[in-house]
Amino acid sequence: MKVLFYGGSFDPVHDGHLSLARSASKFLGGQVVTFLPSRSARWKHPESKGKDRLGLLEEVLSKHADFPYEIDRFLFLNPKFPDYTYDFLRDFKDKHPEAEVFFLLGGDSVLTFPRWKKAEELPKLAKFLYLPREGVEIDPEILDDFGIKAIKGESPGPSSSTAIRELEIAHPYLEARAYIGKREMYYCKTIRVYLGEHRYLHSLRVAELAASFFQSGSQKEGEAYIAGILHDLAKDLPIERQTELAKRYDSLEGLPKWAYHQYAGAVLAKELFPKAPESSIKAIASHCTGSGDMDQIAKAIYAADKTEPGRGYDSSKMIESCHQDLEDGFRYVLRENKAFLEVKGYTIADPYSESCYKRYL
Ligand SMILES: [Fe+2]
Ligand SMILES: [Fe+2]
Repeated sequence: MKVLFYGGSFDPVHDGHLSLARSASKFLGGQVVTFLPSRSARWKHPESKGKDRLGLLEEVLSKHADFPYEIDRFLFLNPKFPDYTYDFLRDFKDKHPEAEVFFLLGGDSVLTFPRWKKAEELPKLAKFLYLPREGVEIDPEILDDFGIKAIKGESPGPSSSTAIRELEIAHPYLEARAYIGKREMYYCKTIRVYLGEHRYLHSLRVAELAASFFQSGSQKEGEAYIAGILHDLAKDLPIERQTELAKRYDSLEGLPKWAYHQYAGAVLAKELFPKAPESSIKAIASHCTGSGDMDQIAKAIYAADKTEPGRGYDSSKMIESCHQDLEDGFRYVLRENKAFLEVKGYTIADPYSESCYKRYL
């Protein structure tokens, strides 16, 4: 009996974890990867409830794992059992003395390995494997001392759990973004402080619709998602607070009051998520009025905000147009929105809207 454990906090699990697991499975001739999510994390501080981390792991693996896997819920089912690799492997070996046990080390855990509980005993319990990464120096002495073996495999890509939690990048998988949104994990917990339920759900829909205007897995898809989920961050704040924040973005001269929250939102987003992409912040700042200088992310947010399916009218033609060609779709939405605002009696003679119409209509 051969078993390959992949332990970690998976907070959240992402494509990098999956490619590492895939490589290790291949390396051992198609071996089943047994994911072993920790109840807590030793070296990091998981911000989410264990149950949600586990649920997200189940969701992502069921949709995206293209290698044999299973999830070992032992640590979750035995809340009193020590949450250390040593204790887990000791117990496993006692129950299955004949098993040949491999243990996959993720990310930078090789670096912290010597500090793990009873590190010197660990090589007697399992063969440890890791995937060398470009730019990450590993002390060869650690590898020697603990008999840690390198495997060959694809580079895990740019995702990192920390970057996802801090909205530096969006989660690459749609299902994971939806799960995080639904369970209000990580960045959503912060966003939810500012948004009531109705506007929060609107933001999630704008984010996913804006992301869908770009190629799946592309950087722009992620930037659009981040702009979408943050775009109305300041809208529920009192107008005095909106004014205060908005002033820090730019002069408010000529900007109608109903659009203050675009500047205020950009400032607040930057304050709460300093690592969020600049293009996302800039897109938030023009989502109400538009401007004469909009990049693709700004156009996507503007269009998605006006057409997301929860708006209560049939916007399917505009959405379809954006999917076919974002530039055309954006102009279509802009035209329709101008007509709508005129009917409603909103002031659209502000310099921002005007320069937007002049440039794009
Ligand atoms: Fe808005
Ligand atoms: Fe909005």
